[in-house]
Amino acid sequence: MDTGGEWDAKHRARRAETAGDVDDFVRRALDLLDAEAGGAAPRASGRAPIAWDLACGRGRHALELARRGRRVTAFDRSAEALAQVAAYAAREGLAVETARVDLAVVGDRVSEDRATRDRAVADWAAADWAAGRPRPDLIVVVNYLDEALFDALPALLAPGGALLVTTFTVDHPGEHPSARFRLARGALARRAWGGAEVCLSEESNGRAGILARIGAMPAREVD
Ligand SMILES: C[S@@+](CC[C@H](N)C(=O)[O-])C[C@H]1O[C@@H](n2cnc3c(N)ncnc32)[C@H](O)[C@@H]1O
Repeated sequence: MDTGGEWDAKHRARRAETAGDVDDFVRRALDLLDAEAGGAAPRASGRAPIAWDLACGRGRHALELARRGRRVTAFDRSAEALAQVAAYAAREGLAVETARVDLAVVGDRVSEDRATRDRAVADWAAADWAAGRPRPDLIVVVNYLDEALFDALPALLAPGGALLVTTFTVDHPGEHPSARFRLARGALARRAWGGAEVCLSEESNGRAGILARIGAMPAREVD
């Protein structure tokens, strides 16, 4: 696995007292999920719902999900990021599992050979780190753009689960992130999301976010 060294250095430089503020769109989407019956309610099994934060960085959203009563696993390739997540969680007395994974495995295979795309997605979904875990009720991906990964997400969800994804778009001002990490205008909301219903969608100032749900939930559009 790539060690994530470049990101290790960035995260080390950002080390602070806290993991940072929750993204506004993420907060609103979580408020919506939690307000509806079954949002953060126990599963039928009586256990807390499960959430995964993919490419979690220093853990601002993993921690918020744990505060909101979910059992959280925070995934990232950077060991430094995950060490910080664990430290912030311990400081708040929150239980957050961390897992070091390379999420690029699907994207790398797809770029090698477009014809293997479906196979790559299926393989990724069956990867040890995902297959060995109970399916999550919510997957969060914030500021990590990998469309092949996005394709794989619906298959990983528990029945009735939700996807919360935000990314930069081509309209984002300034030099960062690079063009490779900026999605076309409107593209996030237009994705199929494996048939999941997009119930919250927002795009402004070069940022786009969606909340998509497998199963019914009232649709909303915010511009
Ligand atoms: C822009 S940060 C976003 C962090 C977090 N989601 C947030 O919003 O605060 C991108 C994160 O992706 C992680 N990352 C980059 N490439 C990765 C990969 N191939 N597999 C797993 N994580 C990766 C980096 O370590 C970094 O923490």
